[in-house]
Amino acid sequence: MARFTDKTALVTGAGSGLGRATALLLAREGAAVACVDLFGETAEKTAAEISAGGGRAFPGEANVADQNACRTAVADAVAAFGHLDVLCNVAGTGKFSHTLDLELGAWQTALDVNLTGTFLMCQAALPHILEVGGSIVNTASIAGLRGQAYAAAYCASKGGVVLLTKALAVEYAKQGIRVNCVCPGGINTPLIPAGFIPPEGAEADLIFRASAASPRMAEPDEVANTIAFLASDEASFVNGTALVVDGCTLH
Ligand SMILES: NC(=O)c1ccc[n+]([C@@H]2O[C@H](COP(=O)([O-])OP(=O)(O)OC[C@H]3O[C@@H](n4cnc5c(N)ncnc54)[C@H](O)[C@@H]3O)[C@@H](O)[C@H]2O)c1
Repeated sequence: MARFTDKTALVTGAGSGLGRATALLLAREGAAVACVDLFGETAEKTAAEISAGGGRAFPGEANVADQNACRTAVADAVAAFGHLDVLCNVAGTGKFSHTLDLELGAWQTALDVNLTGTFLMCQAALPHILEVGGSIVNTASIAGLRGQAYAAAYCASKGGVVLLTKALAVEYAKQGIRVNCVCPGGINTPLIPAGFIPPEGAEADLIFRASAASPRMAEPDEVANTIAFLASDEASFVNGTALVVDGCTLH
């Protein structure tokens, strides 16, 4: 199956975890992929892996919270590939903290990267996506659908991604493009050890209770498969959805 033959894609967060898995999958299915990450060397590794497998890719270093960097990343992709069919906003960050200890800077970083970064990439890519009738897939979280203890900034940012997605879907539906998002539960990626550890004195149970029905963590490929489905023509009549990928949803 090659759902992305002759298609081009830009994937943010492509240097690690879910973004890397998404970039590799889209490339395996025929897409030329711009692999964008805050850390250029990780983006380079993903792009090199795609090229080594016979695919077409190039790396880009960009902070999605920076409007000019987003515009440049999109312009570079269009210059390299000629057009842009698919945008996958996967870059994200998150840390657990008691709300009383949550510093304004940490709140702002979560909002800047997860929500504003998704908006800025969508805004930069939309003219090109509209030109070809393409598709955008954003990455929210089950933490964007329900409260999660010690994750005020993360929940607020991911809830924003869900409604940003729905707003864009409604605004542009009649112009022939689709905008969806995935809401993963726990995925086995470096994000978990990096930030998703209960703060001292917190109840771990409070964090995971809402996912209690899920039998296990997901592997990145399992969520990448869902992103690829939403990005592909197989999802031609799916627009504005927030698709939960958490093993057994309670949402
Ligand atoms: N891991 C989980 O359990 C889980 C659950 C639900 C949602 N998510 C979401 O999935 C997405 C991918 O996370 P992951 O688990 O693969 O984590 P990860 O840490 O493995 O990957 C995140 C990638 O985003 C990049 N990134 C971070 N800030 C950036 C910025 N400002 N500009 C550009 N790139 C930036 C990082 O460098 C990294 O390569 C995130 O949006 C995350 O919130 C993860």
